[in-house]
Amino acid sequence: MLSVSLILWIAAVAHAVLTRHACPRPPEILLATVDIVKQEYNPGDEITYTCNPGYVPQSGSRSYRCPLSGKWPLVTLRCIPKKCSYPGPLYNGQIHGTDLRYPSVVSFSCDPGFILKGAKTSQCLADGQWSEELPECQPVICPPPPVSEFGVLSYRRLSPGNTSVFQDIIKFDCLLPFALFGKEIATCLANGSWSNIPTCKSVECAYPEGIENGFINFALRSTYRYADHVTYGCNPRYVMDGAMESRCEKTGRWSPKPICRAPCTMPVKRATVLYNEQKIKVQDHLQEGIQHAETIWFFCKNKEQQCSYTVPAQCIDGNLTAPACFKERGWFATLVKTDVADLTPC
Ligand SMILES: *[C@@H]1O[C@H](CO)[C@@H](O)[C@H](O)[C@H]1NC(C)=O
Ligand SMILES: *[C@@H]1O[C@H](CO)[C@@H](O)[C@H](O)[C@H]1NC(C)=O
Ligand SMILES: *[C@@H]1O[C@H](CO)[C@@H](O)[C@H](O)[C@H]1NC(C)=O
Repeated sequence: MLSVSLILWIAAVAHAVLTRHACPRPPEILLATVDIVKQEYNPGDEITYTCNPGYVPQSGSRSYRCPLSGKWPLVTLRCIPKKCSYPGPLYNGQIHGTDLRYPSVVSFSCDPGFILKGAKTSQCLADGQWSEELPECQPVICPPPPVSEFGVLSYRRLSPGNTSVFQDIIKFDCLLPFALFGKEIATCLANGSWSNIPTCKSVECAYPEGIENGFINFALRSTYRYADHVTYGCNPRYVMDGAMESRCEKTGRWSPKPICRAPCTMPVKRATVLYNEQKIKVQDHLQEGIQHAETIWFFCKNKEQQCSYTVPAQCIDGNLTAPACFKERGWFATLVKTDVADLTPC
């Protein structure tokens, strides 16, 4: 009895052994390798997938066991590339490339006026680190401008610091009496050169000319150079029109001289006029006439209404005309007739 059941048990086990199925090679998973590679796996054998360097499991299980059925279960493991952190920011420059995953490469460039110091490209490595350190965009440096010409040209930095970088400006000056030709201000360009460098030239002006009815003040010299100046004056009772000073210009010419405007003599012998808001008699107070640009008001008569009105007359460079409505009276008339200026104002 015992031996029969033993035989039956052995037979059953033998059958089971004989009907056991081996597992084939496990399925290949993208971007992953399996730890034990064989032609066949016994039921119960365990395999473990590992993502390739640079890749990490995203989902699914890594380990699987060969079942009695001999069919591998569905392998669910998914591997994805490792992501490097954003390498920036790169100040005054750009990082090109949006894919930051292994094994992508990004490149670097700098804005105009900046120079790349460091690597031009960097790769996201399998360990999730960038192959290169972040480069720097350093501003272009303009060398000090060549200032030669016997030292007559000088410049000043208008930006703080000892060196001139992109977009800094400097201002040039020429030592007097040298005159500056070109632009006073230069800018440090993106290519490291200055936008312009002016030149200083010696300029002489001719001996200054005199003016009519006037004179040149102060001692005269034998030569006049750029920025030298002379001042003018007018004869008594002449009025200056324009700037008193004339300057030797870069062009080698003098800036405009003033003009002395002439006074006016009275166009009438006898009249009562308004002058500086005062009623005065020409024959008593204005024998010398009036100066250029001054105005007097003549009295005219409105015959219908027997009243008076005033008409202005201005002295323009020696010209003064009485208005047409003004009637000059003879000496005798002044004794017997009422002065127009004494009539009621209209
Ligand atoms: C400029 O240079 C001088 C000497 O060359 C130095 O003493 C000074 O610290 C510098 N200034 C700056 C702002 O770099
Ligand atoms: C720099 O650039 C300016 C204008 O962009 C150009 O005129 C000049 O020739 C350049 N200088 C050099 C040295 O390349
Ligand atoms: C003054 O009068 C003269 C002669 O009548 C004339 O030629 C001249 O243009 C006048 N000047 C002014 C400033 O009006």
